[in-house]
Amino acid sequence: MKEADLVLRRARLLTLAPLGEERPRVGPAADDVGAVDDGWVAARDGAIVATGHGSAWERLELEKGAVVDDVAGRVVMPGFVDPHTHLCYAGERWDEFGARRSAGDYLAILERGGGIHATVRATRGASDDQLLALMRGRLDRAVAAGTTTIEVKSGYGLEPEEELRHLRLIARLRAEALIDVSATYLAAHALPKRFAADRAGFLKAATAALGEVAREHLAEAVDAFVEKGVFDGDEIAPLMREAASLGLAVTLHADQMNDLGGAALAARLEARSADHVARASADGLRALERSGTVAVLLPGSSLFVGYPPPDGRRFVAHRVPIAIGTDHNPGTSPLEGMPSAIALAVTLCGLTPREAIVAATINAAHALRRGKRAGALVEGRRADMIVLDTDDERELAYRLGSRLVVSVYANGARVSHTGSIIE
Ligand code: NIG
Ligand code: FE
Repeated sequence: MKEADLVLRRARLLTLAPLGEERPRVGPAADDVGAVDDGWVAARDGAIVATGHGSAWERLELEKGAVVDDVAGRVVMPGFVDPHTHLCYAGERWDEFGARRSAGDYLAILERGGGIHATVRATRGASDDQLLALMRGRLDRAVAAGTTTIEVKSGYGLEPEEELRHLRLIARLRAEALIDVSATYLAAHALPKRFAADRAGFLKAATAALGEVAREHLAEAVDAFVEKGVFDGDEIAPLMREAASLGLAVTLHADQMNDLGGAALAARLEARSADHVARASADGLRALERSGTVAVLLPGSSLFVGYPPPDGRRFVAHRVPIAIGTDHNPGTSPLEGMPSAIALAVTLCGLTPREAIVAATINAAHALRRGKRAGALVEGRRADMIVLDTDDERELAYRLGSRLVVSVYANGARVSHTGSIIE
């Protein structure tokens, strides 16, 4: 029988186990969390060794000092995968937040040299130690809310040299983090002032930096902001093709506030994900379905900027795989944990609570090309799991802003624990 050093038993276990092929879930499968009542999960040396139900766990061979927790019917599920964050920044944008009422305001502020540029100035002024400390705090709060895999973008450097500084800091965060950190080079977030009269020159410089990013393994993916008044698809495509030729994955901020054909471009580039896609056209959705690109919905930014959120039902109808993320950043989305993203995906985007859970776990793992490693409680995967203080997972979507995540395990080690409910 299998050996274990950790068992969580008497759980409402959500396995999210693949149904046949290891693909993102679409259609009715996207509403199925693989629930097992009176379930258990066992791990050893940081990896899941078995799951089951009832008393079958008693046949496991427990290592000396093994932890066996009776969670008394609480939900145990995979840790969340947050596929889209901008954790590397300094400074907040209180005034902009107070003044802004719409996507039009957001883009006008950016045009006037505020918005992203304000954060770029503050971030440039922050030392390496200051930026690392800020990122650590944000990561800790994400983990306490249940995140065990997180994507972190650069993007507030703009100038390639400064972007590389941020990517090296993200690499340090990744090296010390207890959870899995996936870095992305957001190569074209806004046009730096120095290149105001030379867009092509900027894109050339950003493209030239890709070699160093790939050589030093500073990022897994490359991203760009395709939006009215920022960058259009034709400008971005060569940069992305070069990234792909260097073995980097492609992802895009696409059709967030205006439809610029970003979803279709992401599909053409065989991007791993197309993010925001609130304004994506029916053609864009059909293209995503064909390419198998994951649509990452980010409802926090719709709520905080004040533009219509993506309609999740359209993506479901087109059988486009859906993931959700926090998009944590100082401009458009202050969300610090995935439970808020889940609640907003239901209330604003029309997902069912279980579709939102699939979107926050296994489908988000696919968005980060980790569909075989994370996002499900299956033998052989990392023992990344969370315990909720409820016996019904739908409460995650229902009780907006509450703290349902009481324990977080990453690689089989408990990295966060609140309250005295489970010892
Ligand atoms: O995902 N839209 C582009 N990037 C971020 C916001 C950046 C900012 O305003 O600081 C987003 O919404
Ligand atoms: Fe973003």
